[in-house]
Amino acid sequence: MKNKVSIIGTGMTGSTTAHWLAEKEIADLVLVDVVEGMPQGKALDLLQAMPVIGKDVTIVGSNDYDATAGSDIVVITAGLPRKPGMSRDDLLFANADIVRKATEETIKRSPEAIFVILTNPLDAMAYLAMKVAGVEPQRVVGQAGVLDSARMRAFVAMELGVSVENIHCYVLGGHGDEMVPLTRASNVAGIPLEESMPPDRLAAIVDRTRKGGGEIVSLLKTGSAYYAPAVAIAQMVDAILKDKHLIVPAAAYLQGEYGLKDIFFGVPVQLGRSGVEKIIEYKLSEAELSALQKSAQGVAENILKLQL
Ligand code: 2OP
Repeated sequence: MKNKVSIIGTGMTGSTTAHWLAEKEIADLVLVDVVEGMPQGKALDLLQAMPVIGKDVTIVGSNDYDATAGSDIVVITAGLPRKPGMSRDDLLFANADIVRKATEETIKRSPEAIFVILTNPLDAMAYLAMKVAGVEPQRVVGQAGVLDSARMRAFVAMELGVSVENIHCYVLGGHGDEMVPLTRASNVAGIPLEESMPPDRLAAIVDRTRKGGGEIVSLLKTGSAYYAPAVAIAQMVDAILKDKHLIVPAAAYLQGEYGLKDIFFGVPVQLGRSGVEKIIEYKLSEAELSALQKSAQGVAENILKLQL
C-alpha cells in the first residue's frame, strides 16, 4: 500500500513541501487549506508536473479534512508567517489556534499518524500538537534543526569554497535567536570547524545562522523562508517513511535529556518508522549547556503561556 502524507497549510511552505515530496515519489499527497480553491489549484498544478518528471504520485487538494483520513504522516505548516521586525514568539497565540484546530481535525481521521510540525514558534507548537493529539511523544517532531543546520552549512561552504556535501553542522536548541550552533561538533570533511577558519569568521557565521530566518523575512517583506524549511521537512518525512534511522537535529519532547524536562527542544534525534526513535545526547561543555539552558528558557516561557 502506498504511503499517504497530508500537508495542512498550503501557503509557500506547505506547497513547496509538497513539491519536494512529490519529486521523491514516496507517498500520495493531500493538501488542505481553509482558502477555497487554493489547495485544489496547487494540487492540480503539481499533479500536472508529474508526467514531465516521470513520477507517479496522486496529489489531491481539499478544504475538507476528510481527505486526510488514514494518513501515515501529517505535516502542519498552517499559520501566519512573521513580518519584518517580528519575532517568531509574536505569533504564539494566533498560530496556537490554527495548530490546535489542524491537530484536532487530523488526529481523529488519522489516529496512527506521525506529526511533523513547522508552524512557529516551532517548539511551542510541537508541544501543543502533542498535547492536543494526545499521542506518545515520539509521534510528534518539529522541524527546525535541519533548516538551521543547513543554513550554517551553506554559510560555511560559501566562506571556505568547499562543497556543501563536505560540511556537517549541528544547530541545537529552540528555533529562535538563542539557538545554539554547536561549532565544536561541526566539521569540514572531518576537520573541526574551529580549525577551519579564524574565530571572527566563525563567530560571524554563528551570528548569521541564528538570525538566518529574520534575514530572509526582512528581504522578502511579505513572508518567511520556504525552500529550505520545506526541503528540511521532506528529508524528515523521507527518513520516517523509509525507516532510515537518520540522525538529524529536530525538536523532540525531552524527559530529562540535556537536563531538560517537559519541553520540545532542538536536539539530535534518530528518525524511523515510529517517529523519534531515539534522542542522542552529546557530551557538552559547561558553556554549551548553559547556552542550551538559556535557549530553553524562552521555549518554556512560550509553553507556559499556552496554559495547556
Ligand atoms: C525560518 O527560520 C520560517 O522559522 C522559519 O525561516
